[in-house]
Amino acid sequence: MRLNSPQINLITKACMKASRSLIRDFGEIENLQVSTKGPGDFVSSADRRTEKILIDELQKAHPDYGIVTEESGIINKSNKQNRWIIDPIDGTMNFLNGIPQFAISIGYEEDGEIKSGVIFNPIMNEMFCAEKGNGAYLNNSRIRVSNKKKIKDALIVTGGPKGASKIKDRIFSEYINVSKNVSNVRKFGSAALDIAYVACGRFDGYWQRELNYWDIAAGIILIKEAGGFVDFFENDENLPLKKNILATNSNIHNELRDLINKKDIE
Ligand code: IPD
Ligand code: CA
Ligand code: CA
Repeated sequence: MRLNSPQINLITKACMKASRSLIRDFGEIENLQVSTKGPGDFVSSADRRTEKILIDELQKAHPDYGIVTEESGIINKSNKQNRWIIDPIDGTMNFLNGIPQFAISIGYEEDGEIKSGVIFNPIMNEMFCAEKGNGAYLNNSRIRVSNKKKIKDALIVTGGPKGASKIKDRIFSEYINVSKNVSNVRKFGSAALDIAYVACGRFDGYWQRELNYWDIAAGIILIKEAGGFVDFFENDENLPLKKNILATNSNIHNELRDLINKKDIE
């Protein structure tokens, strides 16, 4: 069984094409770590190269679609009905350090709602995809969120704060409160993979503040189609591309939300 629709085929094909140079670039990182110039510039060019391949492939099929990307900003601004939301490398810091926990993330949005999404870790060869009404998949197998019922048994993932965050203390105290009340908390450094791992039951829940829409756009449909629950909290309506997210297996959703709101659980 596999997810097979024109839209998903188009996105996965673009991912496969872009990943060829990304895998090559990742292989170069080790050498660059020891060079005097360092890998910083190299990574930003890997980011741009990957994004260009993705945009070219998607535009061949739909030249008129809007595109919201991390590196190139917004393309075809006037089309708000059909939009691709792209992060060419999510988990840049991992990529830069030779850690194979990063992914290409592409969501497709129609009239403001994410309808399909693909998150691809090219090193692990794990392709997560989902489409509204047609389920969520990892490679060719259907995936579902975990069945964990009690927050105290839950394995939770999070990320942040960013270096420049102005609410670091808030994020740290949230982290303490959550970690005191769950089985354990992980930080893996790729929001897209964090959310995909909730969709396939590896983690029971995920929360993070100060994300960008492209970090989690594809993940939104993955969670929903895998039977989980996703919502956004304390969002600023004037900043639609900034997101605080809570995504869970749905059983532990309210408890995790309470912990984030600093209400201790007995
Ligand atoms: C970052 C990753 C990371 C998250 C950061 C994001 P990038 O995206 O998703 O896990 O904690 O907030 O900015 O910069 O690697 O594309
Ligand atoms: Ca990102
Ligand atoms: Ca990125």
